[in-house]
Amino acid sequence: MLEIRNLHADIDGKPILKGVTLSVKPGEVAAIMGPNGSGKSTLSYVIAGKEEYEVTKGEVLLEGESLLEMEPDERAAKGLFLAFQYPLEIPGVATMTFLKAALNAQRKKRGEDEIAPADFIRSVNRAADKLGISREMLRRALNVGFSGGEKKRMEILQMALLEPRMCVLDETDSGLDIDALRIVAEGVNSLRAQNRAFLVITHYQRLLSHIVPDTVHVMADGRIVKSGGPELATELEARGYADFAAQPAA
Ligand SMILES: Nc1ncnc2c1ncn2[C@@H]1O[C@H](COP(=O)(O)OP(=O)(O)OP(=O)(O)O)[C@@H](O)[C@H]1O
Ligand SMILES: [Mg+2]
Repeated sequence: MLEIRNLHADIDGKPILKGVTLSVKPGEVAAIMGPNGSGKSTLSYVIAGKEEYEVTKGEVLLEGESLLEMEPDERAAKGLFLAFQYPLEIPGVATMTFLKAALNAQRKKRGEDEIAPADFIRSVNRAADKLGISREMLRRALNVGFSGGEKKRMEILQMALLEPRMCVLDETDSGLDIDALRIVAEGVNSLRAQNRAFLVITHYQRLLSHIVPDTVHVMADGRIVKSGGPELATELEARGYADFAAQPAA
């Protein structure tokens, strides 16, 4: 599904990703853990196509197609979805309007018709109810004045509506209370499917006990330095990242 090969990326001439190689199969949930500043968010931004990042080497393939030459909206139309560590606030745009525009933009790129208004309302309401998002919140401007946890739930709502193939979630668990964590994890679990894969970036084993990953990868100093199964997350929780701290600095 997602194939990252020897990816190198700079920001302002400073190398951040130094040869990331990672492959995520259809149906798989892969987790990335790693110390602060190791490049996890940078990896998600590069996958999304954020323009400040310059890819100097390597490639990223989504279902065999190279993503790096595509504009961010093309990537989304190909089925890529990213939930960022810090969701953007969009003043003046009602959440409902934003969701509809996002969904229709994607349908248009794919050569599909706009969604019928009644169908749209029905699917938003259904997904919102599942995630404990009130109708009042849907009428407010996107993310403006939403609490940290409410923003994260809203990201999962967008994901449920857009039905992506490849979902990258950057610290979707940070700032969530215990109930919200469970709701968000259930939202992700209910979207797990044979033709969909997830890359979940997290610091905590706690999330991974709700969203049990198939594989766990450790990122340190811009590279994947260790891969394993779910037990690796438990091990890291107990031992920390000290084993990886001795990586040579660039
Ligand atoms: N615009 C920028 N200018 C300079 N350095 C940057 C910029 N953006 C990111 N960096 C640096 O890149 C490195 C990787 O940052 P990144 O956000 O990818 O880390 P992370 O693994 O997501 O960390 P965390 O666990 O704290 O979220 C950090 O050292 C950061 O300071
Ligand atoms: Mg980060």
